[in-house]
Amino acid sequence: MRLMPRTLILIALLVPALLPLQACAEQPQASNPREAAVAATHPPGTAIASAHSLATDAGLEIIAAGGNAFDAAVAVSATLSVVEPISSGLGGGGFFLLHDARSGKDVFVDARETAPAAATPEAFLDADGNLDRDRSVNGPWSAGIPGLPAALVHVAQTYGRLPLKQSLAPAIRIAREGFPVYERMARGYAARRGVMERYPGTRAVFLADGDTVEEGELFRQPDLARTLERLADGGFDGFYRGETARLLLDGVRAEGGQWTAEELAGYRVREREPLRFDYDGWQIVTAPPPSSGGVALAQMLQVLAPWDLAALPQGERVHLTVEAMRRAYRDRTFYLGDPDFVEVPVGLLTDPAYAAGLRASINPDRATPSDTFSGRPTPLEDEETTHFSIIDAEGNRVGATQTVNLLFGSGLVAPGTGFLLNNEMDDFALKAGTPNAFGVMGFDANAPEPGKRMLSSMTPTFMSSPDRVAVLGTPGGSRIITMVLLGILGYADGLSAPQVAALPRFHHQWMPDAISIEKDAMTPEVVAELRAMGHTVNVPGEEVAGGRRSSDSWGNLQTVSWDRRSDTLEGGTDPRNPVGKVGIRPTP
Ligand code: DON
Repeated sequence: MRLMPRTLILIALLVPALLPLQACAEQPQASNPREAAVAATHPPGTAIASAHSLATDAGLEIIAAGGNAFDAAVAVSATLSVVEPISSGLGGGGFFLLHDARSGKDVFVDARETAPAAATPEAFLDADGNLDRDRSVNGPWSAGIPGLPAALVHVAQTYGRLPLKQSLAPAIRIAREGFPVYERMARGYAARRGVMERYPGTRAVFLADGDTVEEGELFRQPDLARTLERLADGGFDGFYRGETARLLLDGVRAEGGQWTAEELAGYRVREREPLRFDYDGWQIVTAPPPSSGGVALAQMLQVLAPWDLAALPQGERVHLTVEAMRRAYRDRTFYLGDPDFVEVPVGLLTDPAYAAGLRASINPDRATPSDTFSGRPTPLEDEETTHFSIIDAEGNRVGATQTVNLLFGSGLVAPGTGFLLNNEMDDFALKAGTPNAFGVMGFDANAPEPGKRMLSSMTPTFMSSPDRVAVLGTPGGSRIITMVLLGILGYADGLSAPQVAALPRFHHQWMPDAISIEKDAMTPEVVAELRAMGHTVNVPGEEVAGGRRSSDSWGNLQTVSWDRRSDTLEGGTDPRNPVGKVGIRPTP
C-alpha cells in the first residue's frame, strides 16, 4: 500500500498536546434537513432489538397498548433491569438517545451515575498509595449515585404517551412472577459470587431459596417488584426520597459507605445536545460527553473517510482502522470527562482538519507504536452492560445503553431494595494514569469530584441517509466504541441489520498497544500481514501479556433499521447472545 509519503509519518502523535484547548467551541448543532424532508414518511410498524426476549416483548406489549417508542423504551429498560441484573438495573445508569419524529429533534438523556461527595481520590488508595482495586470495583465505595430510575421517570413524563405506571407494569410483573435463569447469568453469578455473598442484602436476593443461582430455575425478585411499584407510584420521589432512599442509605452505610440523603434527592438527569457529523453520505447522531464514544467515532470516521475501505484487502483495511482507533483512544485518555466539570475540547477533537492531521501521521505500511506514554494497563476483565434499539411506526427512535458496569456491578444489594448497586466509580481515573478494569486510563479531565459523572464509553448511535435509518449500540466497556465503529462501517457498506450484529470484531485502544481480534475474525494470513507491519495481534487461544488468554468473542450489539426505499423494518440481535430478540410489530 502506498497511500501517503513516508515523510509525514508520526508527526501528529505530538500535535494534540500542543493545540490550545480553549480555542474550540462546542460543535454547531444544526437540525438535519434530510430528516425534516422525510418527516411525513412513517415506518410500517415498530422494531425493537434487545438483549433479552422478555424485554423486547415488554416493549411490544406497550406499543400494542398505544404507547410510542419512548413508552416502549421505559418498558424495555425496566424489564432489562429485572432480567439482566448481571448487566444493568435501577442501581445503575445509562444513556438514552432519542429522536422525536414530529419535531425532527434528537436529544441525549444523560442518566450517568454521579460521584458521592465522600468519594475523593484518596478514598480509593491503599496504605502504599496504590489504587485499592477491591474498593474501586466491589461494595459501597465502588458505587455512584444511580441515574437509571430518574431516566425512566424523565423519558416517560417528557416524551411518553402512557403513564409511567403502565410502562413499568411488565417489569413489575416479571420481577414478581420470575423468569428462567439463562446460562450467561448463571455463569456470571458463579464468577462473581465470592463478592456478592459478602453482603446480606445480596444473599437475600440471589440465595433466597438457600441455593446458588442455576440455569433454568425461576428467579423471583419480590423486593425489586416493590421498589418498582414505589417508582411507578411516586415518580422521582418514589425512588430518590422516602422508603427506597431510606433503604439505600441504610444499606450503603451498613457496609461502610457514606452516601447522603441530599445526594440522592439531588440527582438529576441531564438533557444534552447529541454529537452530529457526516460520514460517507450518512448523518451520524451519537453520544456526547460524558461519553467518550461520539467524539472517538467522529475522529475515527473522519480519519478514515478518504479511503474506500470496502475496496481494500482485509489486512490493509484492518491496519488503517486500527491506526484510527489508536489515535482516538489516545485522546480519550487525556481530554474526555464530564463537560459539567471540565472543558472538553469537543470542537477541536471532532474538527475535520484535526482528523486530517491524525490521518497524515498514519504510515500505510507500519504500525505506529503507542508507547508515547508510560503505564502498564491491566487486561480486560469480564464485562457486562446492555443496549436496546427501537424505531416506531411514527418514526421515533430510541437507542439506549444502560449499565451497572462490571458483572453484577458492585455486588451490593442494599437490604430490602432488591437491586444491585453499580461499580461505576471504576470508570473514573481514580488514580491518574492507572488503568481501570477495561485497561483504559485517564488524568485530570476524568478525576473524581463530588457530583461529577465518570467518563463512559457507552455509545448509542443513530445513522440516517436519504435511503435508510439505523439505530445501534452495544455493551463491551472500552470496546463499545470500536464495535459501533465497525457497525457504522458495515451499514455504510450496505449490510443488513443481522449482518451488522454478527460482524467479526477487532479492537485497539492505544494502550495496551495490541489488536484484539475475535475468534475467526481474520485468517492466519491477515494476522501474519498485520504482524509484519509491526502490530501485536492477540489471537484467541494464544497467550497474551500476563499469562491470560484473549477472549473468543465480545459484545452484544442490538440494532434496528428502516429501509425507506422498500419501506421495510429489520432488526439484528447479536448472535453471541442466545437470549436476545428482535421483535417487529407491523402497523395494524
Ligand atoms: O460506561 C462505560 O463505559 C462502562 N461502565 C460500560 C461497561 C460495559 O460495557 C461492560 N461491558 N460489557
